[in-house]
Amino acid sequence: MEKIGLPMPVLRTPTVDPGEEFTAHSEDALLDTFDRRARDLRISLTDFCNLRCTYCMPEEGVEFMSRDSAMSGDEIVRFVRIAVEKFGVNQVRFTGGEPLTRKDINDIIAGVAALEPRPNIALTTNAIGLDKRAAGLKEAGLDRINVSLDTIDPETFKTMTRRPFLKRVLEGIDGAKAAGLDPVKINAVLLPGLNDAQAPDLLQWCLEQGLSLRFIEQMPLDAGHSWDRTSMITAADIFALLEPRFVVTPDSAPRNGAPAEKFLVADRRDPERILGDVGIIASVTRPFCADCTRTRLTAEGRVRTCLFSRTEVDLLTAMRDGASDEAIANLWKGAHWKKLAGHGMDTDSFEQPQRPMSAIGG
Ligand code: 5AD
Ligand code: SF4
Repeated sequence: MEKIGLPMPVLRTPTVDPGEEFTAHSEDALLDTFDRRARDLRISLTDFCNLRCTYCMPEEGVEFMSRDSAMSGDEIVRFVRIAVEKFGVNQVRFTGGEPLTRKDINDIIAGVAALEPRPNIALTTNAIGLDKRAAGLKEAGLDRINVSLDTIDPETFKTMTRRPFLKRVLEGIDGAKAAGLDPVKINAVLLPGLNDAQAPDLLQWCLEQGLSLRFIEQMPLDAGHSWDRTSMITAADIFALLEPRFVVTPDSAPRNGAPAEKFLVADRRDPERILGDVGIIASVTRPFCADCTRTRLTAEGRVRTCLFSRTEVDLLTAMRDGASDEAIANLWKGAHWKKLAGHGMDTDSFEQPQRPMSAIGG
């Protein structure tokens, strides 16, 4: 039988000593010592969420940040403007927590859409309430949308998110399609013994609905620190789960630094007829750190150069203290210069970040 898999990337070696003082470049760009250039900005709009996915948040006792400590809409648009003008950032993705729980999201998107040059604007959401919001988001300038959905079984959904809201999510997805947001991408995380056996059903449903599904390997970002390297569902496991029902072949279209490796999908009973595609984001077993083009801001306006950073650099306090665009850009460049080669999840010395995914922004 044909064996499918993902190519194994390698880490880069540094071009300069990472410990060197930040005088190393004066270019208008977010560079690091591994010669990578960040053009993709992810911004968490809030750490609040109306679900409690087990791989992301604790069941109870979460302390959310105060309203004042989160960036305002104007502050967010100013950070994006600095990134666009000073670093050539051309893609912005809003995440959370749940970004739709912010009432001013349309204004933020419209503010970013008015920038010159206009970056591509994307949103990652759990789709609750999206049925009522999708048309407004599209009108404000939203270009792309990703919905997190791990199962289409109501009981499994309730177990995995600790909330009985599957119906609302499905209505949200329908609303996004009706508003002309195209493609609607679905992000799914598979957990052993919970929804892994449902992977073919989820893919089949997505293909029928015209949705583009991407499986994401579970990363150690859960509040309960229960992630286990030995039991997590890997990309190889996902291929094995899909194989009995589908023929999955690598898509020859260029990857362009995207984390998802794309595959074309056909039903095993009619292998010539391509039904759609599926993506695999193998962040753990096949890390793509060497080609990382990302920089992140938490909802409190702190730079994280990686999901797994152990440090953050506070830009919001500087902005509130009256720092110029130039000064903020320099702080950001300095933080980014120290971006590590990779997350190190594959090493024994790996330590999970203190903050869960909901507080970092996906
Ligand atoms: N591992 C992998 N993906 C995660 N997400 C949240 N927590 C994790 C994790 N521990 C995903 C969500 C969402 C996106 C923002 O990140 O499913 O789609
Ligand atoms: Fe909320 Fe997304 Fe975390 Fe689930 S993964 S709890 S939807 S922020």
